[in-house]
Amino acid sequence: MPHPSLIEMQLNTPAHFMPATPDRLIGNLDSIEFIRNNSSHNTLLDVGAGSGQFASLVKLNFPDMQVTALDPSANLLSLIDDRSIRRVVGKIPDLTLQADERFFFIHVANVLHHLVGRTIAESRKNAKESLLVLRDHLDDGGFLMVREELWETYLIPTVTRSLAFHFLSVANMLNMPVPGFLHHERRSRSFKGLIVCMYTASELKTC
Ligand SMILES: C[S@@+](CC[C@H](N)C(=O)[O-])C[C@H]1O[C@@H](n2cnc3c(N)ncnc32)[C@H](O)[C@@H]1O
Repeated sequence: MPHPSLIEMQLNTPAHFMPATPDRLIGNLDSIEFIRNNSSHNTLLDVGAGSGQFASLVKLNFPDMQVTALDPSANLLSLIDDRSIRRVVGKIPDLTLQADERFFFIHVANVLHHLVGRTIAESRKNAKESLLVLRDHLDDGGFLMVREELWETYLIPTVTRSLAFHFLSVANMLNMPVPGFLHHERRSRSFKGLIVCMYTASELKTC
């Protein structure tokens, strides 16, 4: 069972770029439990860490863990309060880490759908390449913890996903607003400039 004070801690985090939706909170807490059950080593890299909600939660639960938060956005990383968390501006697949750096846990939550190429095939290639690059930074016996919001629809998911991808690509090119209900988090307001390539569960398994 998730510990209520941890949920509160996340809900009370100032509203950053990425809202802490219930699914994300539960996912983060599941990951904490996983680390608790497997923590024989104490290094963790959070890829796409944003404003450090997960990294901070890890430090709160495992004060001895050496946590590195990596994100392309220096602005988001600067919102991390905990000075013991190392911040690295960088992105997958072109990581700026030392080639010989290793981590026991590498956590990548809700990032793969942002690695967008010109086509869906190119986007999938980016996602696969990124996971392979991260694998090279894993300690022996370490864990690559990947969490993604999946594309699930009653209609053929890969077809509707492709329509959504192309629609977003065109809207992005024309700088057109997209209605919020089309966002995978059902936003209340329209948004601009977001381009994502969502995946179905079977696509991710074969990534
Ligand atoms: C949807 S947010 C997820 C944030 C957090 N991991 C979570 O689950 O709440 C996506 C994050 O990925 C970051 N991001 C985008 N492209 C990236 C890349 N190529 N490599 C690493 N992070 C990336 C964004 O800056 C953003 O912080």
